[in-house]
Amino acid sequence: MPHQETETLWQKRLNQIDSDVQEIRFPQVEEDTVSQDEETCEVVMGDQALRIRFHDYDEVYKIPGLYEKLFYEELRCCSPSRVAGLLDDVLEDSDSCPEDLRVLDVGAGNGMVGEELLVRGVRKIVGIDIIKEAREAARRDRPEVYDDYHVTDLTDLPERVEEKLREDGFNCLSTVAALGFGDIPPKAFVKALDVIETPGWLAFNIKEDFLSERDSTGFCRLIRRLSRDQVIQIQAYRRYRHRISVTGEPLHYVAMVAKKLKDVPDHYLED
Ligand SMILES: C[S@@+](CC[C@H](N)C(=O)[O-])C[C@H]1O[C@@H](n2cnc3c(N)ncnc32)[C@H](O)[C@@H]1O
Repeated sequence: MPHQETETLWQKRLNQIDSDVQEIRFPQVEEDTVSQDEETCEVVMGDQALRIRFHDYDEVYKIPGLYEKLFYEELRCCSPSRVAGLLDDVLEDSDSCPEDLRVLDVGAGNGMVGEELLVRGVRKIVGIDIIKEAREAARRDRPEVYDDYHVTDLTDLPERVEEKLREDGFNCLSTVAALGFGDIPPKAFVKALDVIETPGWLAFNIKEDFLSERDSTGFCRLIRRLSRDQVIQIQAYRRYRHRISVTGEPLHYVAMVAKKLKDVPDHYLED
């Protein structure tokens, strides 16, 4: 799907959302002085102005339309459509199609990734997020997207949730803008990969820095190890601008699509 069309997906949705957000103001800060997970803004609604830290997602999701206005309209985020589009391209080259996928969307938030997958033809999508405000926002703003939505912690998955996920027979894992930064740790990512059937698909993005030798999140080592052990085979790798920072600097991420070739060995789950 051309970028222009997917761009309008979140705009169309935003037009349907009854939002009280009138203005978003950004603090005057020097370039490179604020880390991505410390960025804040001031949200003007009626006669009040609330200071919100971007990574306090519970606060962001509670305000209808704020997530879309902040990250997409103001900061030009494009990751859900980039990752979903890359998955689409790889499926086409593999003689597969989105209609065959049963997707587990991890770090699902208010459903923007689920919606991108749905418009591409995926018929079954289940979300997971660690905070209840994400599920509430998805149900409020995108009620048709997820077949089910679990609020749970993948690093400590309750047995009954794990059983349900395995019964659902997912053959694709998506996770967008949710790895690293104190969000989804490598342990949760490995668990999600374990729950996906073999063979299966994996579509995700990650900040470019987390793939470098200097990475301290553990993702660089994990992804290399999964590839080396042929648990996954990376089939597409694309560097792109995920969004801009509050000072207008580009934040580069890498979108990847991989095939899960074999079950996750036990020692990965124990480490
Ligand atoms: C930037 S949002 C991305 C939401 C959505 N994927 C998107 O692209 O719009 C990151 C999401 O990851 C969720 N998250 C953080 N840590 C998590 C964890 N350990 N397990 C599941 N979700 C988590 C957050 O609650 C938040 O909704």
